[in-house]
Amino acid sequence: MATALMAHTLNDGTMVPAVGFGTYPLAGEDGIAAMVSALENGYRYLDAAVNYENEREVGQALGRSGTPREQVRLATKIPGRFHARDLALQSLRDSAERMQVDQLDVALIHWPNPSRGLYVEAWQALVTAQREGLVVTIGVSNFTREHLERVIAETGVAPALNQVELHPYFPQQDLREVHARLGILTQAWSPLGKRPSPFHEPPVADAARAHDVSPAQVVLRWHLQVGSMPVPKSADAQRQRDNLALDGFELTDDEVAAITALGRRDGRRFSGDPDTHEEL
Ligand SMILES: NC(=O)c1ccc[n+]([C@@H]2O[C@H](COP(=O)([O-])OP(=O)(O)OC[C@H]3O[C@@H](n4cnc5c(N)ncnc54)[C@H](OP(=O)(O)O)[C@@H]3O)[C@@H](O)[C@H]2O)c1
Repeated sequence: MATALMAHTLNDGTMVPAVGFGTYPLAGEDGIAAMVSALENGYRYLDAAVNYENEREVGQALGRSGTPREQVRLATKIPGRFHARDLALQSLRDSAERMQVDQLDVALIHWPNPSRGLYVEAWQALVTAQREGLVVTIGVSNFTREHLERVIAETGVAPALNQVELHPYFPQQDLREVHARLGILTQAWSPLGKRPSPFHEPPVADAARAHDVSPAQVVLRWHLQVGSMPVPKSADAQRQRDNLALDGFELTDDEVAAITALGRRDGRRFSGDPDTHEEL
């Protein structure tokens, strides 16, 4: 069994695995079964959110799997409607209760929603929650360079990670450089880039043939080699295992560059622009 060994040391000194498990839209009994399967297959980081409405299932999956609590990092995200300080703190307490944990391992601001102007306040709440021990690791999601620099300037605390859309069609080179400069881990959502899928693209398909692996494994290995932590979601046990089995091969520099170049040809994001997108 492949195991998502802890691979990145964050700026707060804690560790996260090379690959996490995306939990959206897993919910209900089927969702719990898929998450138990993920834990049994070696995932040790579950990416949830208040807005996924599956935090109870995450907690139940952890309990049912029998995986020791201290071996798994559970992540959630504060929604836009709870950015005001007291609402943000209450959101974190409610998440911990739903997950049935005393302390959240990772909490992120889900989207900056800059038009509402409260993401700095939400960040200050996360800094407070970390100091009070409610959360171990604090980070953000869908933040641009400007949003990151502003929260750091106003609080003196850099997010440990920024979870952003990142896949071969949207490789985020500039933002990855900003993260490296600021000591922030890049975490990738929709890491497989399946809307539409890049699996048929020659740089991906050729590398899959050359290394005798699946196109999805090529894309996930590309993430590891560009320094990104992907959080792929799969409800299928075999695909869950495949998505962790990335140690047996290495892409060449040319293969990595060719996959990254897909972004220049078809550089479309799936989601809204974080400067204008509103997610409550
Ligand atoms: N912060 C944000 O704003 C944000 C936004 C979107 C997502 N997320 C997070 O990121 C996670 C992942 O994103 P995502 O679910 O959009 O995309 P993804 O993980 O890149 O792709 C998931 C899709 O790929 C399929 N798949 C998984 N492994 C595969 C494999 N080896 N071969 C072929 N197909 C495979 C899955 O189907 P099967 O289940 O049938 O395998 C599913 O349809 C989410 O679950 C969520 O936790 C965060």
